[in-house]
Amino acid sequence: MNTNNNRRQFIKSSAKVAAAGLTMPYFFSGKPTLAFDTDSKNDRVAIGLIGCGGMGMGNINAARKWLDVVAYADADLSHANQANKKFSNGKGAVYADYRKILERDDIKVLHIATPDHWHTKPLIEAMKAGKDVYCEKPLTLTVDEGKLIRAVQKETGAVVQVGTQQRSTIDLFVKAVAIVREGRVGKIKKMSCRIGAAHGSPALPVADVPKELDWDRWLGPAPLTDYRWLKNDRQEKKKNRDFTNAHYEFRWWYEYSGGKLTDWGAHHVDIAAWALAASGQSDAIVSISGDAKHPVDFVDGVPQQNDRYNTATNFLLNVKFAGGVELEIRHDQSNGVMIEGEKGRIFVNRGKLVGAPVEALQDNPLPEDAIKNVYKGFDPIETERKGHWANFLKCVDEKKEPISDVHTHMRALNICHLAGICARLGRPINWDDKTEQIVGDDVANAMLKRTYRSGYEIEMDAPQPAAANG
Ligand SMILES: NC(=O)c1ccc[n+]([C@@H]2O[C@H](COP(=O)([O-])OP(=O)(O)OC[C@H]3O[C@@H](n4cnc5c(N)ncnc54)[C@H](O)[C@@H]3O)[C@@H](O)[C@H]2O)c1
Repeated sequence: MNTNNNRRQFIKSSAKVAAAGLTMPYFFSGKPTLAFDTDSKNDRVAIGLIGCGGMGMGNINAARKWLDVVAYADADLSHANQANKKFSNGKGAVYADYRKILERDDIKVLHIATPDHWHTKPLIEAMKAGKDVYCEKPLTLTVDEGKLIRAVQKETGAVVQVGTQQRSTIDLFVKAVAIVREGRVGKIKKMSCRIGAAHGSPALPVADVPKELDWDRWLGPAPLTDYRWLKNDRQEKKKNRDFTNAHYEFRWWYEYSGGKLTDWGAHHVDIAAWALAASGQSDAIVSISGDAKHPVDFVDGVPQQNDRYNTATNFLLNVKFAGGVELEIRHDQSNGVMIEGEKGRIFVNRGKLVGAPVEALQDNPLPEDAIKNVYKGFDPIETERKGHWANFLKCVDEKKEPISDVHTHMRALNICHLAGICARLGRPINWDDKTEQIVGDDVANAMLKRTYRSGYEIEMDAPQPAAANG
């Protein structure tokens, strides 16, 4: 009998046991077990997925051998139903409102993969409801949202992994940080985060909202506006999507994202900030200056047209840290991180780690525990489960802080947010790292926060647990 048959047989017997009314862990609970195509063990985790678009589906696909997704929530029910069909044979619960998942006490672990403007609210409410969460990057739309998330994480002790998975690519980014920590590039002088293409759009007409998309819910805390859509005629390249202010393309609107500065900045600036902290040099931001090009005009940081993409399409921003290190964030197709020290420089991206200090490892390898020392003491090769999801699930099991914790993520993401403020205002900003305020610029300081649309404020009280399946 093959594994799937074994599994089906096992599910049937589990259901019989359940009918006898015994108390069992989730897997044995008699509820339909949802992943039929894996070598399932009884340590599988039951999770809820909030946001079932590209990344939500991609992440679950990557981690499905360890998970049963038992509930799906999406403002577009066609996405939730598609995910349910793919990962749970259509047997998961499907909700339009993610709070239905928060109310369920049989679900302790969540994955949030909503658009950026919809991260902070469900994440805070989930932590308050006692859940552990793998939440996509960038965790927030503003600096002040990060302050709130840090406070609630501290108060609740929730295990939160941020979706900056470059922190778990051992042979590339982790090794690069280990090289820096071991002093192989010497004292850092300069770093460069090269971030690939961002694009503008033509004017997008107001369009009918697709049948299964609840547009008001999709906008959520963001300002009320029309749904826009325009067919992209240049679809000979598969990656050319239709223009819209909704699915996937929300990245190019400051109302929902920070553009490339946070979309890829959340990854590459995170690595630069991690390396700087590992080097022992100060990672306190002092100032940010530079230039950016936007597809529309801005006045006091506010885009003056609402019918086309508005995030920066070109930029060169310079960040100064208290210890004298400089970081440039620039639009550049080489898409990676350069770290230059007094002894040499390294470049790392998702395909390579190069530079003289890397070549020198052949004669003088890193000490045995170098990777473990930067990977928070976890041994990335000790278990069968590897990678960013594995790190999260291990931390859920052991109630430990994952490798991409909210505190270090927000330190890095603040650089991206402040670079975005500098870009939108078109003037330098000075930062007080202690008070986490911009110095002497009220307009810029006001951009550290955003107003939540009425009806979509953050609920700071945990939802009352409802009956199972409620
Ligand atoms: N870590 C990475 O490498 C990586 C890669 C891609 C995307 N991401 C991140 O993942 C997130 C999602 O990006 P995407 O490309 O999958 O976008 P997407 O538009 O494909 O998916 C987002 C989904 O969230 C849904 N949604 C919107 N509001 C919701 C709500 N209130 N409740 C539940 N669902 C809601 C949308 O309808 C959509 O199905 C973004 O924050 C993005 O930055 C991370």
